[in-house]
Amino acid sequence: MLSMPSHPVLFVGAGPGAADHLTLGALRAITSADVVIHDRLVGDEVLELIPPQARRIDVGKEGFGPSTPQEAINAALVSEAATGARVVRLKGGDCGIFGRLDEEISSLEAAGIGFAILPGLTSATVAAARIGQSLTQRGRNASLRIITGHDMAGFAEQDWRGLARKGEVAAIYMGKKSARFIQGRLLMHDAAPDTAITVVENVSRADERVLAATLSTLPETVAQTHGPAVILFGLAPRQAAATLPALKEARA
Ligand SMILES: C[S@@+](CC[C@H](N)C(=O)[O-])C[C@H]1O[C@@H](n2cnc3c(N)ncnc32)[C@H](O)[C@@H]1O
Repeated sequence: MLSMPSHPVLFVGAGPGAADHLTLGALRAITSADVVIHDRLVGDEVLELIPPQARRIDVGKEGFGPSTPQEAINAALVSEAATGARVVRLKGGDCGIFGRLDEEISSLEAAGIGFAILPGLTSATVAAARIGQSLTQRGRNASLRIITGHDMAGFAEQDWRGLARKGEVAAIYMGKKSARFIQGRLLMHDAAPDTAITVVENVSRADERVLAATLSTLPETVAQTHGPAVILFGLAPRQAAATLPALKEARA
């Protein structure tokens, strides 16, 4: 028979890759977990911090299937928490940004299981830092859009007219397949073809790459990437930042 859960499930943002981008709270949660249910986008450095005695459940790769159905993840959270184990649900970046967090919380709520959220650094924040740019700037953009390239219906429609205005900045997630669509929509709304864009691939990982582009060259640039990439619309890499040493070298 299952005991009542004694620990809330902790939703933990792992940051985009390197362990340097974990919060102290996330580190404490990971190192004291009994069970860690993690995504494909969690970096290897962070996975290495999971204690050997803790059970790792990979819900992003082979084993649980190439793409674990959300219902199976929800069910795993509930059943693991119901054993009384300390369960950490580890998500890449920030768990509250394109992370299907609410669906998982709802299943815990339905089962009467408590939870807490430990936010993490989202990939766009770290990508902007890597190119030496600020995501907002006085006199340039008073708002920042965090948008997705596609949603459940296909390529996602956005406020293209608003985004096409000079000085606007957007962090575009999951925008690789929809790059040509995004380009077309923005040009249709009179965005300047030479608007600066930076594509940052594998943010905060050893194979991180910064690709400078413009709206005209977006699809070709994105086609050169193989890993996850975040598209920073309206931002160019600063010269000095583009040649920054990797995080580990900077610390040495
Ligand atoms: C399902 S969303 C998850 C976002 C994540 N919760 C976050 O806050 O970064 C997946 C998308 O996030 C972006 N992403 C996540 N990790 C990344 C990384 N290390 N490098 C570049 N882009 C990343 C990519 O656009 C990818 O397609």
